[in-house]
Amino acid sequence: MIQIAILGYGTVGSGVYEIAEKNAKSIKRKSGKEVVVKRILDLREFDDHPHKELFTKDFDDILNDSDISIIVETIGGLEPAYRFTKSALLAGKSVVTSNKELVATHGTELLRIAREQNVNYLFEASVGGGIPIIRPLNGCLAANEITEIFGILNGTTNYILTKMIKDGESFADALRQAQEKGYAERNPEADVEGHDACRKICILASLAFGKAVDADKIHTEGITNITSEDVREAEGLGYVIKLIGYTKKTEDGRAICRVSPMLVPEDNPLSGVEDVFNAIMVRGDSIGDVMFYGRGAGKLPTASAVVADVIDIVKGADNKNFIWDEAPEGYMACYKEAVVSLFVRAKGVTKDDVINVFGSETEFAHSDELCFITPPAQEKELDKKLETLGGEIISRIRVMQEEE
Ligand code: HSE
Repeated sequence: MIQIAILGYGTVGSGVYEIAEKNAKSIKRKSGKEVVVKRILDLREFDDHPHKELFTKDFDDILNDSDISIIVETIGGLEPAYRFTKSALLAGKSVVTSNKELVATHGTELLRIAREQNVNYLFEASVGGGIPIIRPLNGCLAANEITEIFGILNGTTNYILTKMIKDGESFADALRQAQEKGYAERNPEADVEGHDACRKICILASLAFGKAVDADKIHTEGITNITSEDVREAEGLGYVIKLIGYTKKTEDGRAICRVSPMLVPEDNPLSGVEDVFNAIMVRGDSIGDVMFYGRGAGKLPTASAVVADVIDIVKGADNKNFIWDEAPEGYMACYKEAVVSLFVRAKGVTKDDVINVFGSETEFAHSDELCFITPPAQEKELDKKLETLGGEIISRIRVMQEEE
């Protein structure tokens, strides 16, 4: 029998408990051992819980319990999750987490400690909710040099954008629904301002390219400035607006990372990814493109990824290669080096002015206002041109390229 503890009985933590209870038989069959939740740490009272005796408010009850070999950390945030995780690993316990903020911020150190202690620190649930992506990157796709990863990494914003585009709902109403469904972070600013997607692309880039990406250095824009006019004009041109996390390895081995709204062509598979679903496109030098799709947030989908990590540890799988190195100075390239097109809505300039600056390849919308898509170029070059255009820029949104 393997005894585990859960830190944090919120949306994901209670989902882990629920799955461990309801699927106990199949978990035993798949892992070879019975997996039992011995303690749950939470500062709140759970007097009505059928197993209220499992709850403690003192982490030491778990840390000092030698019967507990695996700890599930679903507290979220940096503290006390960081302190608890580090102590647990140093005490020789494996830790499984859904906490992307912690992995993105302290993953390099925690993975090193886990390796030194010969235990596991697994984080499948930290990216894409229930979608398997971390293990496939390190396993099935391991023979590839990964060159690019991009996709929809945040369920809450995708849910909001879908409701706004399809049902004409207001931003506030759609956000409230995402919160009620347990998709949104405790502070939903992390979702709508893009920080959650930033942490996820940070983890994917670190793992795929083998060097730690600094989340603080990732250019991050959320969806709060997207207007219904942007949505309508984009639609008229054959695009939908999605929040996209993007990373690419440059030819000289540096990493470009960015989170921002993008116009996605209607014939690109990412355009049809709706509601809470996430989709992650991985480009490898041998396999080409692979897309991972599924529920990117929510209690049971995310908890299922956590429990899968627990099962993997119980089975004795060796996951010590889930690691990345410190990055050298200058590893992160400026996001403006990436090639994009820009969707622009402008006032006070004419179509001829635009063609003079961006050339005849510019695509114009058939609408009452001046709205166009520039030919592709490095973003820094497009910005220089945009400065010379003059007039008033109402919106400026990146456009996903054909090959993306
Ligand atoms: N708030 C996150 C999302 C939860 O909406 O995607 C899953 O990481």
